[in-house]
Amino acid sequence: MKLVLASRNENKLRELRSVLPDWEIELLCAPDEPAEDAGTFFGNAGIKARHGRLHARPEEWVAGEDSGIEVVALGGAPGVESARWAEDPVTRLLAELDGMTNRRARYVCELVALSPEGLELHAIGTLEGEIAAEPRGTEGFGYDPIFVPTGMSATVAELGGAWKREHSHRAQAARAFAALLR
Ligand code: IMP
Repeated sequence: MKLVLASRNENKLRELRSVLPDWEIELLCAPDEPAEDAGTFFGNAGIKARHGRLHARPEEWVAGEDSGIEVVALGGAPGVESARWAEDPVTRLLAELDGMTNRRARYVCELVALSPEGLELHAIGTLEGEIAAEPRGTEGFGYDPIFVPTGMSATVAELGGAWKREHSHRAQAARAFAALLR
């Protein structure tokens, strides 16, 4: 089965491919990108999916994915703004949490998938953790160098791709999507 991911993020593509090995997954090829202004992960994922539907082939599934990090001490920020929050979001987050003891955070991923027949599926995955005192590790992307999953002492960037493909919020959302299909 073919799935078009309405994103330009190669990291997200790699993560989804490893969790859904039976699917042929490609990134969307579109001349434009929609404004992600729904205010929720679910809303933005739906915007991306419906935009993808306009450009994908009729026989392909389309998935919109929106994800980000919610920091408890910041009232859930940056949340849906994670990608646009700062030029250097890691440095900004460490500065905002400077001196704070509550460093709890979670990654959230919401997927909206549209079937060729117009069926809409919605899946969510989360990964709980804490923000480290300083960046560590070289793998992953975004906030991974400062995100320490609950029960671990290493950051996601130190744990690496294999760990992430098994445990990440995106992996969990993709597994939930696969379970819905079954
Ligand atoms: P989106 O592409 O609009 O969904 O933006 C997602 C943003 O959230 C990314 O640019 C990252 O800043 C952050 N994010 C989402 N998932 C991850 C992840 O797995 N690791 C690190 N940062 C992530």
